[in-house]
Amino acid sequence: MRKKIIAGNWKMNKTPSETVALINELKPLVANDEVDVVFCVPAISLTKAIETAEGSNISIGAENMYFEESGAYTGEIAPNMLTDIGVKYVIIGHSERREYFAETDETVNKKVLKAFEHGITPIICCGESLTQREQGITIDWIRQQIKIAFLNVTSKQAKTAVIAYEPIWAIGTGKVATSAQAQEVCHAIRDCIAEIYDEATAEAIRIQYGGSVSAESAPELFAQPDIDGGLVGGASLKPDFGRIVNYNK
Ligand code: 13P
Repeated sequence: MRKKIIAGNWKMNKTPSETVALINELKPLVANDEVDVVFCVPAISLTKAIETAEGSNISIGAENMYFEESGAYTGEIAPNMLTDIGVKYVIIGHSERREYFAETDETVNKKVLKAFEHGITPIICCGESLTQREQGITIDWIRQQIKIAFLNVTSKQAKTAVIAYEPIWAIGTGKVATSAQAQEVCHAIRDCIAEIYDEATAEAIRIQYGGSVSAESAPELFAQPDIDGGLVGGASLKPDFGRIVNYNK
């Protein structure tokens, strides 16, 4: 039985001091031992977030990371900078990074490999645009994203990975995918992992849905057999996140 994992992606929101206040506010609301709870916050707030979350069930993740160890890469964050302060997860290849910061399937793969090398769990994002969905190429597109993201990743590593399926047309639009649409793609992702590796790896890997997840839509989405939790944007900054994490109560 896979443990559900529900992560907030704070995106470019909250200053470090606002981060402390929000984590303190949400801490009692997100207590649920049956679920892994992760807050992914801007790099500048990671240290404060880790200090504030100490002793709670909240793990802290980064929203991005570079694929080199160190050197002349002005503005970038290296993997050992994250592990040094206790970061456990990192979002890789969010569609906003692909769209605004020129990330590609190839850079996603490099970052995924680096994260594993440093013992950081990657939350690997994939998703189709509205045009691709209308063209009927969603599954082909997602399979391609997954195959490249997992190049040279071992099955032992893949078993610990998290994949976030986030249809781009559902992000920040209030247009949540139906649970049937989300399940169909998450199932196809699991099949793809079984093809690359084996059934055991496919059964172990956790696949989240993301895109306008709310306290109202979460219970039905998370009840789907191949959906192991969510990657939540807007609603993760509000007390609603507590209701999402406690979707099963
Ligand atoms: P929203 O929940 O705001 O649609 O954002 C989803 C997302 O992009 C999470 O990574």
